[in-house]
Amino acid sequence: MIVVDDLHKHFGGFHAVDGASLTIQEGSITGLIGPNGAGKTTLFNVIAGVLPPTSGKVTMAGEDITGLPPHTLFSKGLLRTFQIAHEFSSMTLRENLMMVPGNQSGEKLWNTWFGRKRIADEERALAAKADEVLEFLTIDHISDERAGNISGGQKKLLELGRTMMVDAKIVFLDEVGAGVNRTLLNTIGDAIIRLNKERGYTFVVIEHDMDFIGRLCDPVICMAEGHVLAEGTLDEIKANEQVIEAYLGTGLKNKVANA
Ligand SMILES: Nc1ncnc2c1ncn2[C@@H]1O[C@H](COP(=O)(O)OP(=O)(O)OP(=O)(O)O)[C@@H](O)[C@H]1O
Ligand SMILES: [Mg+2]
Repeated sequence: MIVVDDLHKHFGGFHAVDGASLTIQEGSITGLIGPNGAGKTTLFNVIAGVLPPTSGKVTMAGEDITGLPPHTLFSKGLLRTFQIAHEFSSMTLRENLMMVPGNQSGEKLWNTWFGRKRIADEERALAAKADEVLEFLTIDHISDERAGNISGGQKKLLELGRTMMVDAKIVFLDEVGAGVNRTLLNTIGDAIIRLNKERGYTFVVIEHDMDFIGRLCDPVICMAEGHVLAEGTLDEIKANEQVIEAYLGTGLKNKVANA
C-alpha cells in the first residue's frame, strides 16, 4: 500500500532519515521500533507530508505522494494522529470529533443562505457519527466533557477517534501508548485491532512498549540511524543480531531482550 524508497531527511549535516526503504502491506498493523533518535518520527513526518524529504520517494497504491501536503494526504485517507490542539481543549469530546475536516456544507458560507435545513441535517448526522465513534472507543460516558479535562489516555483515544470521522485507509500512530495506563492501553489496542479487522484500516504503529507491539503488530520493522535494520515477526526481530547491537547501550536493550 505504501512503498518508501531510499528516503532521506537531513537537518543541516545531520541525517535523521538516511536511506530508509520499506513497504507497508495493505491490511497490516505494522510496528515500527528502534532506539531513541532512530528517525522513526521523522520518517512518519515525511510520509505524512509534515516535513519535505531531502530525497527519495513515497508511493501509495502506486501513486507518487512524495512531499504532498497533509491535507491532500488526509483526503486520500492517509492520516497521522496529532495531539489535540490547545484551542480545542475547551470543546467537548463530541465537538472535537465534529470538527474533523470533512465535507460539511456548514463550512461554506453560501450554504448558510441556501441550505439551513441541509446544515441542520448534516450536523445531526455528524453528531450521531461522533457518538458512534465515542461508543466504539468506550468513552461515550464522557462525550460532553471538555477535552482539556480528560486523562492522557483518554486524549489518545480521542486522537484515534478523529481518524474514524473520515474514511481513513492508513493511519500512522506515534507512541499512542506513551504515558497511558495499562487498562487504557489495552482499550487503545482493542480499538486498533477492531478498526483493522472490521473497517479494514491499515496501521503503522511506533511504540516502545514491546508487549503492545507484540500483541498488535505483524510485521515489525526495526530502524536505527535513519534506516531499516530488519523486518519480521517480533520474535525474529528480537533474535536479530543487528537489532540487539543497535539497542545496546540504550535503556531499551533489556526491553527487547526480555519482551
Ligand atoms: N527538526 C529537527 N532538527 C534537527 N534535528 C532533528 C529534528 N527533528 C529530529 N531531529 C533529530 O533527528 C534524529 C531522529 O529523531 P526522531 O525524532 O525521528 O527519532 P525517533 O526514532 O522518533 O526517536 P524517539 O524514539 O526518541 O521518539 C534525532 O537525533 C533528532 O534529534
Ligand atoms: Mg519519535
